[in-house]
Amino acid sequence: MRIHVDPATFDPWKVQALTHALADHPLLQIDALVELGKRQQARNLVRTHSSDATAGTSFADAPKLHPNERAAATTLADIANARAWMSLLNVQADPTYRAFIDEILDEVRPVVDRKDAGMCYRAGWIFVSSPNTVTPFHMDHEHNFIMQIRGTKRLYTWEPFDRETVSERAQELFHDSHSRDLVTWREDHRGRARVLELVPGLGGYMPSTSPHMVENGPEPSVTISFTYYTDSTRRRELLYRGNAALRRIGIEPTPVGASLGRDRVKHAVLSSFTSAKNLVRRATGRSVRENDQPYAPA
Ligand SMILES: [Fe+2]
Repeated sequence: MRIHVDPATFDPWKVQALTHALADHPLLQIDALVELGKRQQARNLVRTHSSDATAGTSFADAPKLHPNERAAATTLADIANARAWMSLLNVQADPTYRAFIDEILDEVRPVVDRKDAGMCYRAGWIFVSSPNTVTPFHMDHEHNFIMQIRGTKRLYTWEPFDRETVSERAQELFHDSHSRDLVTWREDHRGRARVLELVPGLGGYMPSTSPHMVENGPEPSVTISFTYYTDSTRRRELLYRGNAALRRIGIEPTPVGASLGRDRVKHAVLSSFTSAKNLVRRATGRSVRENDQPYAPA
């Protein structure tokens, strides 16, 4: 296993610091990433902004608010001076990197599966950023193994059930409409954070919807995330969507996780409802939102 996940301490819903043996991997060196950057740009799978973004910048709007006008390959080749943050998105769209993502996730899967079955929707994300660049505060749907390859960064993380940092309503909106509008930064969040000081060879595990924010050190940084969904992330998503539906008809829903019994009943009802709805959509030629595919669609 090149990501060192300890079966004894791994908890799918807790942030954890980890070590790894990926820092020298040829696919993660800058020359390979410049080439990947060209291919990802052609696929429209590059997200970038300048170093002017701050912790409180809207994650969704950062590329528009603080544009980096240079092409991916140019930015990556001169990342020390580019004053840019760049993410090569969904690198599983690239056959070479898909094989790499599979190798690494196949290695950790037996440990993950024991506590969190149903790994699917695999994806890879490579972050390359200039010195002293910040990744704005946000959260994502996927479980995330995040590994530092080059340079240093301070990864601020918060537990996925920390409702002081991200409210139940913000979780609900995020799951229901993928909006991060209620996931907002406050300086006093720092006091509640678990901070991982990342250097090459160190990394972490962040469960689905763990809020995070990143401050790069004084050198260029390369980081890779291996992400996926499981049965439990899909179940939690469905519960939040159900709660959002209840709220729309004027019922204040019980928070997800507050009552296991209620969650179980709600999930059973929502699953049959969703299956029936999907049957009708398929029969009438409409698209169905499928989050149980082996890879995240790029
Ligand atoms: Fe993220």
